Amino acid sequence: MSAKQTPPQATYDSAFLKACRREPVPHTPVWFMRQAGRSLPEYRKVREGIPMLESCMRPELVTEITLQPVRRHDVDAAIYFSDIVVPLKAIGIDLDIKPGVGPVVEEPVRTRADLARLRDLTPEDVSYVTEAIGLLTAELGATPLIGFAGAPFTLASYLVEGGPSRTYENAKAMMYGDPELWADLLDRLADITAAFLTVQIEAGASAVQLFDSWVGSLAPADYRRSVMPASVKVFDAVAGHGVPRIHFGVGTGELLRLMGEAGADVVGVDWRVPLDEAARRVGPGKALQGNLDPTVLFAGPEVVEAKTREVLDAASGLEGHVFNLGHGVMPSTDPDALTRLVDVVHTHGAR
Ligand code: CP3
Repeated sequence: MSAKQTPPQATYDSAFLKACRREPVPHTPVWFMRQAGRSLPEYRKVREGIPMLESCMRPELVTEITLQPVRRHDVDAAIYFSDIVVPLKAIGIDLDIKPGVGPVVEEPVRTRADLARLRDLTPEDVSYVTEAIGLLTAELGATPLIGFAGAPFTLASYLVEGGPSRTYENAKAMMYGDPELWADLLDRLADITAAFLTVQIEAGASAVQLFDSWVGSLAPADYRRSVMPASVKVFDAVAGHGVPRIHFGVGTGELLRLMGEAGADVVGVDWRVPLDEAARRVGPGKALQGNLDPTVLFAGPEVVEAKTREVLDAASGLEGHVFNLGHGVMPSTDPDALTRLVDVVHTHGAR
């Protein structure tokens, strides 16, 4: 089903959703990838003794953690607290998120026989997501909630490698060496990802972000041939709901146009490409999201303000701009620096 989902009017009229739709905004909206998490002492407190994946399955805890950065920083959107591997865990893949390491998959997916382990995701597999989003939208009022999922390539990178990697040698070996198996793997992951995003939208998420964090490791021709079809499938599957679709990856300067063509309404940009240049690469008809280097937050308030104004200046000719960091908040970031940054964006990004 793809009934059009219309959020309450106040949410629909929020600066964040307006910017995603490339409508005029009263101020540049801002949120941060990984705004909920270890940078916040209140997060570390409520997570104490609870493993990461377990915390993603407790609706009250998810609600509290998702709301923490909204209360503290006055950001313009909340992002649902979860992880990209949650839907894989939900269909029975044996994996864990190891502190300081990331997702680790017990038995990597390497052969055609392994594909049988990737069954379809049903809403019942993630009933805690539906429940948590119900609690959240009741608390959030006019503040939009962003749902998210990992994109097929980035999920495949964990599944095939068995854990985090810098080179993705097993995943890329499959992509180059057994293109049929690779295509079938990505197609399976596209269905799982689309189902997971649909659950979030139907529960009340008013935008979705597809994280293809590690896709910048690919050349454009390989992206177009071996990855883009699966991402297109995900975006097409959720298009009918009418919620903005954001597409993000790191080191994607050479892929920006294709990532927009995959079907996003908003293209996320890391700090390596200035937003005016990114807009030329993406082409017309898309909003952009980004792109302050997250390490700038360690340099002191004057530097943060100056670098933020550079980002806002580069975005001044864009039709739609959502301010964000170029990648996630780093755990050692001073939360007060983030609160000040929101204020700088709201003050200087005013129209
Ligand atoms: O605030 C938010 O942005 C929502 C929460 C969120 C988490 N993971 C929580 C989390 C989001 C959006 C993600 C997405 C995610 N997970 C991505 C894509 C975004 C990106 O950073 O590029 C990726 C690649 C993952 C995989 C993953 N999960 C990694 C690399 C790690 C970090 C490992 C570590 O400990 O450094 C995780 C664990 C994770 N996901 C944490 C959080 C808050 C840390 C675990 C903890 O707090 O104990």
